[in-house]
Amino acid sequence: MALYRILVVDDEEAQRQMLAGFLEKQDFSVKTAESGKEAIILCQNNNFEIALLDLKMPGMDGIELLKKLKEMNTEIQVIMMTAYGTVETAVDAMRLGAYHYVNKPINLDELKLNISKALEKYYLLQENKYLKEELEGKFKDLQIIGSSQVINEVLSTVSRVAKTKSTVLIRGESGTGKEIVARAIHALSDRTDKRFVAVSCAALPETLFEAELFGHEKGAFTGAIRRKEGRFELADGGTLFLDEVGDIPLETQVKLLRVLESQEFERLGGKETLKVDVRIISATNQDLEEKIKGKRFREDMYYRLNVISILIPPLRERKEDILVLADHFIRKANLKCGKKVNGITPEVKDIILNYDWPGNVRELENVIERGVVLSRTDVIDKNDLPYLGLTKSREISSSINLSLREMEKNHILNILIASDWNLNKSAEILGIHRNTLRLKMKEYGIEKSRM
Ligand SMILES: Nc1ncnc2c1ncn2[C@@H]1O[C@H](COP(=O)(O)OP(=O)(O)OP(=O)(O)O)[C@@H](O)[C@H]1O
Ligand SMILES: [Mg+2]
Repeated sequence: MALYRILVVDDEEAQRQMLAGFLEKQDFSVKTAESGKEAIILCQNNNFEIALLDLKMPGMDGIELLKKLKEMNTEIQVIMMTAYGTVETAVDAMRLGAYHYVNKPINLDELKLNISKALEKYYLLQENKYLKEELEGKFKDLQIIGSSQVINEVLSTVSRVAKTKSTVLIRGESGTGKEIVARAIHALSDRTDKRFVAVSCAALPETLFEAELFGHEKGAFTGAIRRKEGRFELADGGTLFLDEVGDIPLETQVKLLRVLESQEFERLGGKETLKVDVRIISATNQDLEEKIKGKRFREDMYYRLNVISILIPPLRERKEDILVLADHFIRKANLKCGKKVNGITPEVKDIILNYDWPGNVRELENVIERGVVLSRTDVIDKNDLPYLGLTKSREISSSINLSLREMEKNHILNILIASDWNLNKSAEILGIHRNTLRLKMKEYGIEKSRM
């Protein structure tokens, strides 16, 4: 089974074919490019774990390409191939973030070893990222604020279902509070001393996703350097949160359904059947009924996940919550930034009540935090809300003077801010690949720290 994706870039056709053939035999999914330009296009639409780059190529050379690929995908592990390799260029490449280099003519055993070490590094980076997220999650503020009737209903459902083991499906647009609700259910349950394990079902190829959920034995596939416990095992006794559940590949849904019913599974490449006790909460911002009609989501899976359904409406449909949330976020931001802001001007009140909030509560939280940071007095005024300050009509009249590029830049920036700089979310909203978004940010000089 092809688990990991490798990009091979070399201007010599024979070399590309030889490497692709060799790597496919090792169960990698391989794509080849004959130039840096072609490689960049491939990278805009694919996530590769590994890239093998020829150092000397006409046009863009390997070093330049290495820099570009790292900008687009910081986690990609790059191995340089060089026939002309002076030690200096190899060292240069490593300083620029290459994992290693191999000399041409290529010794395939050496290459194989380098790839498997590079995969281990990739895998460790992923693992660290996950542990960091889990730790951050533990310290998240779980207070669910709101005075609207719907939020009160959500809260009452949360407290009623917390003590049961029923599966819960939480639905709502991006940033409405699905994860905080899932965490609150776990916190109020009898499982609270066990783990809350979150897994994003988006953006992983099928087999890698299964390895993530069920774990794998050592040697189950290339790159399975040691045994790994899956998320189901980690969540034993606790709660497993399947985020963006609408993105689970159909094949995986079949397997997952069996596991959800029996709470039994095997690690990939393993014979032993493991039994767990896991409570499942899932979340999605997609229209699952529509997906079922289009045969992209299984109906039986839907019923299994949707025993209890919680719908969180978008913020624009529960305007009663806006001011209480703003107040709450001002207090939070004060603590964080050591400020003493105590309110907003009537004009700001008007703006935030009439704004559409496409990024929902997350966007409001970001806007308020920026307002607190920027405020020069003890109230947030209109000048502290840089991009919200534009009312709809002003936005249109001022945009007449903008070039397409400027419009694109502004739009990208707004979406990034609204999504709290979540690249996956922003790319999804913009309808482009994450790597393409990274490239555009670079091109327009958009950086979080500078905004
Ligand atoms: N009712 C609420 N009270 C207080 N904070 C909230 C509320 N709803 C959302 N938040 C805050 O807004 C942010 C976004 O919430 P959360 O991550 O739960 O949204 P989400 O629906 O999971 O979004 P996405 O679909 O983008 O993953 C978080 O920082 C969360 O703490
Ligand atoms: Mg979420």
